[in-house]
Amino acid sequence: MPESQRMRAVQSPIIPIVAEWIRQCPGTISLGQGVVSYGPPPEATARLQGFGASIDDNKYKAVVGIPELVEAFGRKFQQENGILTADGSGSSLVVTAGGNMGFMNAMLAILDPGDEVVIPAPYYFNHEMAVTMASGRVVLAPTDDNDQLVPERIEAALSSRTRAVVTVSPNNPTGAVYTEASLRAVNDLCRRRGLYHIHDEAYEYFVYDGAVHFSPGSIPGASRYTISLFSLSKAYGFASWRIGCMVIPEELLQAVRKIQDTILICAPVVSQLAGVGALQAGKAYCEGHLRTLTGTRSLVLQALAGLADVCTVPRADGAFYFLLRLRSDRSALEIAEQLVRNHGVAVIPGNAFGLEKGCHLRVAYGALQPATVAEGMERLVTGLKKILCL
Ligand SMILES: Cc1ncc(COP(=O)(O)O)c(C=O)c1O
Repeated sequence: MPESQRMRAVQSPIIPIVAEWIRQCPGTISLGQGVVSYGPPPEATARLQGFGASIDDNKYKAVVGIPELVEAFGRKFQQENGILTADGSGSSLVVTAGGNMGFMNAMLAILDPGDEVVIPAPYYFNHEMAVTMASGRVVLAPTDDNDQLVPERIEAALSSRTRAVVTVSPNNPTGAVYTEASLRAVNDLCRRRGLYHIHDEAYEYFVYDGAVHFSPGSIPGASRYTISLFSLSKAYGFASWRIGCMVIPEELLQAVRKIQDTILICAPVVSQLAGVGALQAGKAYCEGHLRTLTGTRSLVLQALAGLADVCTVPRADGAFYFLLRLRSDRSALEIAEQLVRNHGVAVIPGNAFGLEKGCHLRVAYGALQPATVAEGMERLVTGLKKILCL
């Protein structure tokens, strides 16, 4: 029996394809998946002691999250992001099983079939996939040569069917940190045109060289139409624990409750408890690791300088990605496969991020151990030079 037409239209995720190449080539160093090299803080695992002993631990809990975690997120948003979620603020907070789930919840809550969502390109592929899965249509608004937002292009992409504009900063796949001015411009555009502004802040702490993270949900009045998405996956080494959080306009709460109750009922309670411990350790935990990551980033940049003849590397002050623009008209997918098979290093081809023109490769350095950086980058630089000179 065939799958639905809707699902046939959804691109296949690239990560499992690259993972299969890696499996076939043992010893490959992965600059592929966007994960960090560290795990959760001890405060998170300490919360698990004795969990399950009480019968009550094993029951379903509130759809929107356990009160302790809801409160901890609420405090964090107020203190760090300037986003208010208390009663009367106009916003509601929902704990999700990760940032991806928050995005899917948002799509199911706001889209009718054929509605459009404007996404700057290059995009985070799961966002594009989620829009299509929710029977929506993605309309792309390319970013500029520095991978920055162009609000005029976003405005030009709007139609009578547009329901939302999506931004991700710091960005996956480019590592760009969008300027406060451009995020304010997009948020204001959404206000004027009656659209939702969905902003993904999964990498909020991952900024370098003086770049500053900005949360559009903090703009006065923005709570009526702004959906802010957060995740513990990156900052707290929490990818497998599946905890995120969405801040939504109050009027969407009923819809999001229905969706989450049907798909998940509640985020795994054991992970929510660990999440309380993670937020107790707080931003300082990530900042400690960020010092090491900043060193890794410098080494990656130094190595990439050796590729000046074959590619450009746009400025990227955030997340843990660089999106290389290769001076080649060859297929990025083919080059990525050759890099794994012949040079033992994995990167992600740009096609996965909606880049049909040009030849792009995403380099992720978050998971590199200091010992593997030099070797991984050496393989990438040597491999690319060889492949592109053929
Ligand atoms: C922009 C962005 N949002 C969300 C996610 C997924 O986060 P989570 O693990 O919380 O679902 C990722 C993971 O790579 C991401 O890059």
